[in-house]
Amino acid sequence: SRPKPLAGKTIVMTSGPTHEPIDPVRYIANRSSGKQGHAIAAALARLGATVHLVSGPVTIADPEGVSVTHVESARDMRDAVERLLPADAAVMVAAVADWRTANEAGEKIKKQPGAAAPALQMVENPDILAGVGHSKQRPRLVVGFAAETQDLLANARKKLDKKGADWIVANDVSHTTGVMGGDRNAVRIVTRSGVEEWPDMSKEEVAERLAARIAAALQTIEV
Ligand code: C5P
Repeated sequence: SRPKPLAGKTIVMTSGPTHEPIDPVRYIANRSSGKQGHAIAAALARLGATVHLVSGPVTIADPEGVSVTHVESARDMRDAVERLLPADAAVMVAAVADWRTANEAGEKIKKQPGAAAPALQMVENPDILAGVGHSKQRPRLVVGFAAETQDLLANARKKLDKKGADWIVANDVSHTTGVMGGDRNAVRIVTRSGVEEWPDMSKEEVAERLAARIAAALQTIEV
């Protein structure tokens, strides 16, 4: 059998999109499939970690060997993550909605003859990664993702401090890259000591390599 360098380690993860309710039948969502996050969860579990994954609504199966909590909104995701701390590492991959509707309607919003279209008012959602990165129960290793369509590296570097993360895995999600929803990914690992550029590979391969890098980091005294 394979070596288990993460045996005895607990890792909290998020993956997938969030759904922000407008009324009982409508919501705001994004194009995240959960493929990358779920692949990372499975890869960490294969290395022996106890993985607690908080997943937004996705159509893919729960990753093998992982305990999964299913949530819909960003606030539910935040609450679930907080309940799962402390942990040795946190890997936050979810595409959390930045905003939610200010007032969720209790009943389906009806079309009224001659009335104007409803205006959606939005408020900011909690930043789950920043909450973990600045928490009193901060895991030793905190990894975030940065999906950008422009200024990838500059934005990723800013996120290290803003979110209290050790690494930001930056990927270009411009429509032409096909990353969002697709099977391949080209990432850069941004840390305080520099940037590692990984070639284009499958999301499975990104997951394997990232899990190995996490295992190596958790085996050192300092990360
Ligand atoms: O700021 P931005 O959304 O680009 O940051 C992306 C990173 O922050 C990802 O790791 C994502 O999972 C996390 N995030 C979060 N909660 C939010 C927004 C982003 O955990 N509300």
